[in-house]
Amino acid sequence: MNGIQPIFAEGDSVRLSVDESAVVILDQSLLPNKSEYLNLRSAGEMFAAIEGLKVRGAPAIGICAAYCLYVLAKACRESDYAHFLSEVKRHSQYLNSSRPTAVNLSWALSLMEKVAMDNRDKPVAEIIELMGAQASAIHAGDIASCRSISEYGLSLVKNGDGVLTHCNAGALATSRYGTALGPLILGKERGLGFKVFACETRPLLQGARLTSYELHRAGIDVTLICDNMASAVMKKGWVQACFVGADRIAANGDTANKIGTSAVAILAKYYGIPFYVLAPTSTIDFQCAGGDDIVIELRDPAEIKEKFFAEPVALKEIPCYNPAFDVTDAALISGIVTEKGLCRPPYKESLGRLFGGA
Ligand code: MRU
Repeated sequence: MNGIQPIFAEGDSVRLSVDESAVVILDQSLLPNKSEYLNLRSAGEMFAAIEGLKVRGAPAIGICAAYCLYVLAKACRESDYAHFLSEVKRHSQYLNSSRPTAVNLSWALSLMEKVAMDNRDKPVAEIIELMGAQASAIHAGDIASCRSISEYGLSLVKNGDGVLTHCNAGALATSRYGTALGPLILGKERGLGFKVFACETRPLLQGARLTSYELHRAGIDVTLICDNMASAVMKKGWVQACFVGADRIAANGDTANKIGTSAVAILAKYYGIPFYVLAPTSTIDFQCAGGDDIVIELRDPAEIKEKFFAEPVALKEIPCYNPAFDVTDAALISGIVTEKGLCRPPYKESLGRLFGGA
């Protein structure tokens, strides 16, 4: 696939099993302490893996869902087209309901459904093969996008710069190079060095568990900080750019990403540090006019109070508000880097031009 090798020796963190009867994922919820692969065969297992963040990161969720729908279509054993299509749609709707914010999930599933609908004149067995090809194309497309985003992103920093990142937008969340981490990995391959500050990213610690792990494995100088330390490292002059990923970018450039991203952007503005969003065009949602239209996932309070702690850190009866994402206003974003290049404000125009003025 484009000559780019997987960052993990074991292969891509989302892939099909050799006999194509299962989707194989690296269970991200166990990292960095355990590297375990799971075989997802039933719709229930697939839903639980996405909802439980065993597979996570907007592009990776999309790739996984596409392979899942292919595996489910293969297993459905319906030769009657109408029944087959209704099964495909039923599974697609179910998988799509696993997480609401990352648009790549519905984007990938609708591409898969479209293959089933556009080929109604063909035998079901052939449609299934075409769906497999579509899922592989979504995966290959993301590999190519990440590589291209990495090139454009690398042009925004120089050797020795400090870069702050929030959450995880590397190979685990995408394919191979990643988005926000891609320029750093590509730079490393070219002999450049960056000093990366990874916010731990409460409450699920994707920055601590995944970003610092990936960057360390790649031989990149990474320092882990708590989310509330971002201002301190910026004030010291240690950060020359912020690179973050995205889960959904609205038509006006407002960007949903992991909770805490907007705080980083506000700090960056205060300290005069450029703040870049790096994401494939599959993360842009033109149906969404602005950030207020983005549905933000609310998650279990136990993630705040109990998960990762030997004992609960707050009383059982204390209520929690646990949104998984926040929206960074377009006005705080210096540039949005996609596989098609760098967009500058005003985003309605610059993002629109990526899609031929749509
Ligand atoms: O809840 P998660 O871990 O799926 O959230 C992931 C993020 O917010 C990432 O920054 C985003 O999906 C970009 S991944 C390239």
